[in-house]
Amino acid sequence: MRDELRFGPFDKSKHDRGNFDCGVDALNDYLKTKLGQHSKKSLTRGYVLATPDGRIAGYFTLSASRITVNVIPDGHGSLAKMPLPTTLIGRLAVDQSFRGQGLGAALLVHALKIAVEISETIASAAIEVDAKDEASRSFYAKYGFESLTDDRLHMYLPMATARELVEQSGK
Ligand SMILES: CC(C)(COP(=O)(O)OP(=O)(O)OC[C@H]1O[C@@H](n2cnc3c(N)ncnc32)[C@H](O)[C@@H]1OP(=O)(O)O)[C@@H](O)C(=O)NCCC(=O)NCCS
Repeated sequence: MRDELRFGPFDKSKHDRGNFDCGVDALNDYLKTKLGQHSKKSLTRGYVLATPDGRIAGYFTLSASRITVNVIPDGHGSLAKMPLPTTLIGRLAVDQSFRGQGLGAALLVHALKIAVEISETIASAAIEVDAKDEASRSFYAKYGFESLTDDRLHMYLPMATARELVEQSGK
């Protein structure tokens, strides 16, 4: 079934959200009740990995954001002397029945690819995420995300590193 999955922008007329279950109520409810409205208001953009008949195996959201310089750890402080424009991965989740097949990693790389491409047109210096808990923090840390200094679960990845990951993935 994995070979049949395709990435695309979330479209509530095409995608079946009703049965999505990643095990986290807030992320299930967001997909089912908020993403459509938030897309319409241009607060976020949603992307899904779905079967040909529209079943959602995973999704993520992207928005423009920014972080202040004083939350960047020492060593990366030279990245900028003013607030950094970022691309925020607001949510990222895989349905429980599709877990452990590399789809979380595929979603993340796809999100990075979009962010890297868009950063050529509208500057963005890093990817930002708010990890939900320690488990998701360690998921993002695997790919090089580091904690910002305001909150261990608030993480970032320089855009140059995101570009390298995308190139390494061959996507
Ligand atoms: C985190 C999540 C997206 C991973 O999805 P997945 O499809 O099972 O992940 P993958 O199969 O692509 O695994 C990729 C790597 O991450 C690791 N990983 C998977 N889930 C993990 C977790 N919860 N914590 C830490 N590492 C994890 C895997 O071991 C794998 O590592 P490997 O390449 O060294 O084997 C999924 O468990 C999920 O949706 N969780 C609930 C929502 C959530 O926490 N979202 C993230 C923050 S909002």
